[in-house]
Amino acid sequence: MAVERTLSIIKPDAVAKNVIGQIYARFEAAGLKIVAARMTHLSRLEAENFYAVHRQRPFFNDLVEFMISGPVMIQVLEGENAIAKNRELMGATDPQKADKGTIRADFAESIDANAVHGSDAPETAAVEIACFFPSLNIYSR
Ligand code: TYD
Repeated sequence: MAVERTLSIIKPDAVAKNVIGQIYARFEAAGLKIVAARMTHLSRLEAENFYAVHRQRPFFNDLVEFMISGPVMIQVLEGENAIAKNRELMGATDPQKADKGTIRADFAESIDANAVHGSDAPETAAVEIACFFPSLNIYSR
C-alpha cells in the first residue's frame, strides 16, 4: 500500500472543546504520523477558497461562518493509505450517522459543526496541503 499524505483540520468546535490531544492520539494509534501542524484563525477568504467546491451549495455561507468562528488546528498526516484511514477515523459527515468510536460520533454535535476535515482523494490532498504548508515545512519521516 502506498504511503500518502492527507490534510486534516480540527475545526473550531473541537478546538473549543479542548480535544486536540484526544484527536491526535487517534491519528497516532492508527499509525498516522503528524508531519506538519499549525494553529491558525482562518480569514473569510481562506475559508471561502478552501471550500470553493461547495460555493453553490445552500450550506456554503454557514460553513464559512463556522470555519472562521474560532481557531483551527491544521495538520498533514502521513502513512500507508493515509487518506482513507483518516476518513475512517473521522466517520460520516453527519455525526448522527457516524459509526460508534469515530471522531465525529464522539466529538461532533451536528453536520455543520462536525469536528474535523480530511481530504477525500490524492488530488484534493495535494491541493489542500499546498494551501497551508510550503513543502519545506513538512517533516516527512
Ligand atoms: P463534504 O465535503 O460533503 O463532507 P466531508 O467534510 O465529510 O468531506 O462537506 C464539507 C463540509 O460541509 C462538511 O464537513 C460540513 C458541511 N456540510 C454541511 O454543513 N451540510 C451538508 O449538508 C453537507 C453535505 C456538508
